[in-house]
Amino acid sequence: MITKHTYGNPFNTEAVVEAVPNAEDAPAYGSVSLEKGFAFSYTMAAQDIVYGLGEAIRGINKRGHLYVSNCSDTPDHLEDMASMYGAHNFLIIDGEETFGLFFDYPTAITFDIGYTLQDKLTVSCEEADLDLYVIDGENAYDIVKQFRKIIGRSYIPPKFAFGFGQSRWGYTTADDFKNVVKGYRENHIPMDMLYMDIDYMESYKDFTVNEKNFPDFKAFVDEMKAQDIHLVPIIDAGVKIEEGYDVYEEGVENNYFCKREDGSDFAAAVWPGRTHFPDVLNKEAREWFGGKYETLISQGIDGFWNDMNEPAIFYSDEGLAKYKEFLQTYQNDKDDQIPFFAVQYLPKTLSNSPEDYKRFYHNVDGKMVRHDKVHNLFGYNMTRAAGEAFEKISPDKRILMFSRSSYIGMHRYGGIWTGDNKSWWSHLLLNLKMMPTLNMCGFLYTGADLGGFGANTTRDLLLRWLALGIFTPLMRNHSAIRTRDQECYRFENVEDFRHVIGIRYRLIPYLYSEYMKAALNDDMYFKPLAFDYPKDEMAREIEDQLMLGNEVMIAPVYTQNASGRYVYLPEEMKFVKFMPDGSIYEETLPQGSHFVKIALNEVSMFIRKGKCVPVVDVAESVNKIDMGTLRYIGYENAEYDLYEDDGISRI
Ligand code: GLC
Repeated sequence: MITKHTYGNPFNTEAVVEAVPNAEDAPAYGSVSLEKGFAFSYTMAAQDIVYGLGEAIRGINKRGHLYVSNCSDTPDHLEDMASMYGAHNFLIIDGEETFGLFFDYPTAITFDIGYTLQDKLTVSCEEADLDLYVIDGENAYDIVKQFRKIIGRSYIPPKFAFGFGQSRWGYTTADDFKNVVKGYRENHIPMDMLYMDIDYMESYKDFTVNEKNFPDFKAFVDEMKAQDIHLVPIIDAGVKIEEGYDVYEEGVENNYFCKREDGSDFAAAVWPGRTHFPDVLNKEAREWFGGKYETLISQGIDGFWNDMNEPAIFYSDEGLAKYKEFLQTYQNDKDDQIPFFAVQYLPKTLSNSPEDYKRFYHNVDGKMVRHDKVHNLFGYNMTRAAGEAFEKISPDKRILMFSRSSYIGMHRYGGIWTGDNKSWWSHLLLNLKMMPTLNMCGFLYTGADLGGFGANTTRDLLLRWLALGIFTPLMRNHSAIRTRDQECYRFENVEDFRHVIGIRYRLIPYLYSEYMKAALNDDMYFKPLAFDYPKDEMAREIEDQLMLGNEVMIAPVYTQNASGRYVYLPEEMKFVKFMPDGSIYEETLPQGSHFVKIALNEVSMFIRKGKCVPVVDVAESVNKIDMGTLRYIGYENAEYDLYEDDGISRI
């Protein structure tokens, strides 16, 4: 049962799409104070677990820290970072009392989950204008399913998007891209997608392609398609300010950009230099910006990733002017007066400054709304712009789309990737922990930059990370410019990479079926163990294993120099290993704790008691999967509900 409690005059975020009647009474749990803004407080029992917050650092159980939903361009996913790129304000308290909470509030909101006082949960925000949804259910899993129903169906990508993709910031010319494809195809490492980062564009201008580097872009897209490779270009939020650039000129002419208080177009520097932000909260501007994707779709493109849409700001005109002024002060022989820390710190305050978010406005149905009041809705609405346009531009076929920034509601239009992580073992584990909580919030098509985006990867880290990535719906190797080359064929014993990625393709009938069932039934693809084994005390504390669909449990290796790992089985299961010689090792293990050996070039998973999983032979692209080779592994005489469709028609 769901009750809605409205405070003040909330902004309509359109996160919830089903009607939920307004409650007469106060929420059945905790207490609300409107003395200073809004604050919800609840006293947690010692054993209560708090699930939720989607894309956030730390554990699956969120107790013991402070989190702020405030969409941020944050390349440092450190343990103490309060905010990430997304704002996912859904929580479940599971224990003595079990209930869910969704705070539908469009800007910064703080979740103190036992940080100030160990047993106190306090959720607070500056303005008491929000809808609070309180969800009662049989257990945490049931609460998720009820929540998912009211926020609408999750995005469904085309089937090719379940293949493996290669990406790197720095690929520039058609030859750069062709060489990557050659590297994969010649080494017979399966692949379906090749991502185009900002360097494919002309001076980082959205919806342009550099003509010198791609003299005939359409022909290039076709040439790639002939090899079963889908090119997936990036689109950034900022539109370059440049006379003669049609997107810029149309935006200015029609008032489609975010404006300052005085009515001038707000300017912020991002990759292209000075840019304007499309006002994606304005319906007309959203339609216009979404329509621009057609420029690339008409050339054969069928997938995109939306970036820098928190929106990220390197600096604004105003911020830069202040900075210059500050530097001026110490120009002449004032060495001993230079405030060292202020000078060191100041450049950092230029980027993504809260001051800048107060400098521009959205036109929402004719009303000017200051950006900082609705900050967390920008990435959501940029992706919504694309999603709504795709339905018109490509009414029959699904288009691949994922975004960096998001709010609940965006899950209907695209997936997300978890942003600029690092080539650190701790980030492999963080990747695993984020997956179920993202699913709780409707984001099913998700994944991290495998191998790590920043810093230099190592062969073993990449192999272990791929062995987790095999199971995440979005499976992409992405790395930053100037880091060590990270394409799989760059490393010794390339056959190990061929094998590991090959297992993804052997499992696609299963992974796709489970994804589709989760999407169509408002269900989860990844779950914490406790959702399937709520009475098992051990399972409730497991943070490094996940349930995948209804048949599988995964327990990847996430430490260096390990020959295997400890794993907890809540019930008897089949331990499965895909061996480098192509064989499949299966061993029945009893309920309890085990140390299982998993070599670097093996992929492991567990099949639940009485269940089976479909596998096919390896293929080098999703298109080439031969369903004639389908067979089942796991428990004999088990039944499996295989989901099949053409993988491209809209559903
Ligand atoms: C941002 C993105 C990253 C991309 C880079 C250059 O940092 O998160 O994925 O490679 O910008 O476009």
